[in-house]
Amino acid sequence: MPLISDQTIQDVLANTDIVDLIGETVSLSKQGKSYFGLCPFHNEKTPSFSVEPERKTFHCFGCGEKGDAISFVQKTRNMSFVEAVETLADRANMNLDFSAHKTDDPNARLYGINQDALNFYKLYLSNTKQGQTALDYLHKRGIEDDIIQTFDLGLAPGEYDLLTKTLTDRDVLVSDLYDLGLTKQSKTDQYYDLFRNRIIIPIKDEKGNTVAFSGRVYLDKDESQAKYINSPQTKIFTKSNVLYNLNNARAAIEQTKRVVLFEGYMDVIAAHRAGIAESVASMGTSLTREQVRLIKKHTDHLIICYDGDPAGIEATSRAINLIQNEQMNVEIVLLPDRLDPDDYITKYGKDKLKQFIDNNRMDSIAFRYYKNNMDIDFTKMLDIERFKKTVFDLIKNTSHTIIETYIRRLATDTKLSIESIRQDFEQYTKRNIEPIGKRTVKQLPIDSKYVKADRFVLNYFLADYKYVVDFNGEFGMFYISDMVRDLRMIIEDMYFAIPDDQPKTVALADFTAQLTDEQRAFFEHKVKYKDQIVEQDEYMDFKDVLNEYLRTIQYQKWNEEIKVAPTIEEKIKLAEYRDLKLKEDNRWTKKR
Ligand code: UTP
Ligand code: MN
Repeated sequence: MPLISDQTIQDVLANTDIVDLIGETVSLSKQGKSYFGLCPFHNEKTPSFSVEPERKTFHCFGCGEKGDAISFVQKTRNMSFVEAVETLADRANMNLDFSAHKTDDPNARLYGINQDALNFYKLYLSNTKQGQTALDYLHKRGIEDDIIQTFDLGLAPGEYDLLTKTLTDRDVLVSDLYDLGLTKQSKTDQYYDLFRNRIIIPIKDEKGNTVAFSGRVYLDKDESQAKYINSPQTKIFTKSNVLYNLNNARAAIEQTKRVVLFEGYMDVIAAHRAGIAESVASMGTSLTREQVRLIKKHTDHLIICYDGDPAGIEATSRAINLIQNEQMNVEIVLLPDRLDPDDYITKYGKDKLKQFIDNNRMDSIAFRYYKNNMDIDFTKMLDIERFKKTVFDLIKNTSHTIIETYIRRLATDTKLSIESIRQDFEQYTKRNIEPIGKRTVKQLPIDSKYVKADRFVLNYFLADYKYVVDFNGEFGMFYISDMVRDLRMIIEDMYFAIPDDQPKTVALADFTAQLTDEQRAFFEHKVKYKDQIVEQDEYMDFKDVLNEYLRTIQYQKWNEEIKVAPTIEEKIKLAEYRDLKLKEDNRWTKKR
């Protein structure tokens, strides 16, 4: 296949006004010879993305993304090089024919073999005695024949190598079966089938090509085995780049303008039965950026409906970060009683699932409020304080109505007065934006040990994910300086973006690449990065110092609240409350 000539590429670039082109997706404003706007490749609040009309290039100083008009189209529209050149040529009315440069998919042969295997599995399900047992199992789970058709379910026989034998008899190369993960090789060099005695669920890409399979046990005797086994990573399958059922769901997504995201295959199948055809699954592992981008090509409205257990809630929280980073709208549905969608249908009937999803969607603030609220021990003052701050951070940049709603909700949940929560909120947010006012708590003499601890724990976060988990568990969103908070967010987002089945490590270079100049200077001079963190003990010391800081701040704040309370009754109530909490909190008494 001939490559597109350099001359053609130069012509296409010359005929493309890059400012016009990028201006279609990014709102640009002129500064000198360049144009600036908010980078479409990462999330930012101040523009660091520039377009240089003279050089016909773009460059983001924030994330480092750069290129020309062709690569811009490739990246923003998920196109191949040839497709991008063609798009630009069409845009410039150049009337060029690129068909000679496009090939059939080079993987077509492998898709074909997977299709042969799928046909085999389907026949086996519908035409054998074992198939009848499997059909009984499916019917018992409410999966009737029409659903079996829609999802192309099949059955892998119990024999050692029936699939491999059947397909190689039809001249399929065993090396291809091996590369596709369908066939494995024993220590004695025997070929055998990966999937045996399992109901087969084909995994298809967006275009409907079968790229992989999953097999679920269905015989009682196999219950001790892994519930599902999946095709390994192959030339045509990378788990993190595929969403289960996206191909089937496309029409419904166009119609409903939304996607409902589930954890597993059976959830999607259950949802489909319940009339929610716009459903896809991330297949058990955490959602990846690639998967979010697949969805974004069709809609920017995503509803997460993971299992209602703690693991599902944790996974939801991570997914939200990822989705919001792609500037998409996210809503969350938490099913009651730790049910998954399939259990929900079994328990309440299939119409109820759709009703529940349509009527119980939370936005991300409501979800975060709920999640944090779950972990709070409302008898612990420090817990309450931390919870309040977390909620304040959630709402501080939102509308007045939202702020008001959550202040009321906080007052109810913490059993504090609305007025005192409101005052706290005002104090807390003011403290972040302007110098200490007269009603504000006197800032602690910023003793360097507190500040140092606040900064230094960043080294631990970078060194090992376990410190992030530990610190968040104990301190939640607590931080002293905003700069530290921002750096922490960046680090946590990096960890969160790593799928669970991959090592949770972040490279220093990837981290620093994301920093603004100001952040980088802070990190170099103030955090004083150490690639060898000392040991557990030092980390524990830092935590002690931070706890001491929290206690001191808290004490001052209580006194301040008492001072400004409008009535004597209120003053007395607050003082009693303070004394009670002082007595209760052993972290306080320990050090005093
Ligand atoms: P679940 O255990 O929730 O499975 O795992 P499920 O889809 O609800 O299936 P049933 O109802 O128990 O039959 C969610 C997803 O995690 C992946 C699969 O993608 C599954 O759908 N998973 C789970 C595996 O890949 N392997 C496993 O052993 C378990
Ligand atoms: Mn499940």
